[in-house]
Amino acid sequence: MTTSSAPGKVYLFGEHAVVYGEPAVPCAVGRRASVTVEERDDDRLRVEAEDLSLDGFAITYGDDLEEADVNVPADLVEAATGYVDGAVAQARDAADAPDAGFNVSIESAIPLGAGLGSSAAVAVAGIDAATRELGVELDREELADRAYQVEYEVQEGQASRADTFCSTMGGAVRVEGDDCRRIDDAPELPFVVGYDGGAGNTGELVATVRDLRETYGFAADTVEAIGDVVRTGEHALREGDVEEVGRLMNFNHGLLSALGVSSRSLDTMVWAARDAGADGAKLTGAGGGGCIVALDETEGVETALNYTPGCEETFRAELDTEGVRVE
Ligand code: PMV
Repeated sequence: MTTSSAPGKVYLFGEHAVVYGEPAVPCAVGRRASVTVEERDDDRLRVEAEDLSLDGFAITYGDDLEEADVNVPADLVEAATGYVDGAVAQARDAADAPDAGFNVSIESAIPLGAGLGSSAAVAVAGIDAATRELGVELDREELADRAYQVEYEVQEGQASRADTFCSTMGGAVRVEGDDCRRIDDAPELPFVVGYDGGAGNTGELVATVRDLRETYGFAADTVEAIGDVVRTGEHALREGDVEEVGRLMNFNHGLLSALGVSSRSLDTMVWAARDAGADGAKLTGAGGGGCIVALDETEGVETALNYTPGCEETFRAELDTEGVRVE
């Protein structure tokens, strides 16, 4: 039996624009998904999931999900197990063991589909645990690449390397197309996350931005402007200038909002955080609902968000510098 875990992430800068080749800076945070894998005698797969903001479920299946004997809606099961299936396929391929079967159990402290990279963390931890269970240890570059392939397939091509690279390596990272690297001199950042309890549809939100960008020159300019914010923000981050990082997060949120991917609850949380003295606040991830990230050394933002209508959960998060690890 092997257990690996991998962290979720927040986007300090650059979501959506990263899809069009602009740079982005996601940061791994100390909320993890753990995947435990045990090889079976047959070629089947049994998946158990808890704490995935579903109600928890267990299913056993072979090649065909329809065989699954399960009491929750099929699309929910498909969404949650798609990443596990993909991770198992990658592990079978990496270990040259096409018929390996597994019992897989997932526990996650990362809200699903809320902009914190839950699916990437499950894919990274799943591939790591399943390959180790088969006696193969992948280097981190290959692990990140295989996890990206999983996201790419499950999300039908609507995925950048940002989430999977960040979850694998930990820390603050910079992603521009296929060029992914760690930012080793990033300071500790006082992240506060606000969660509205909802989720956006990443595919639809990416499509919205794509349409706008093709329709209006100024929307294409907005995407490029996000790239400029990221380049300026990356410099501020390396200088350790947290105030400037915050100012640029505010700017980044405004541009995302102009592209139509914010929501009333995200805007409300962003403004509550700013009013409470945050250095900066923005939505994180695809948007439409889910999480915001703010920077605040004090208790002020956390307290304000706890009293903000529409904010279901608030937590502080440390920068995770470890990335994927064996438990
Ligand atoms: O909501 P998340 O964590 O899946 O982030 C999506 C970020 C996008 O830039 C919108 C898409 C991507 O794959 O980079």
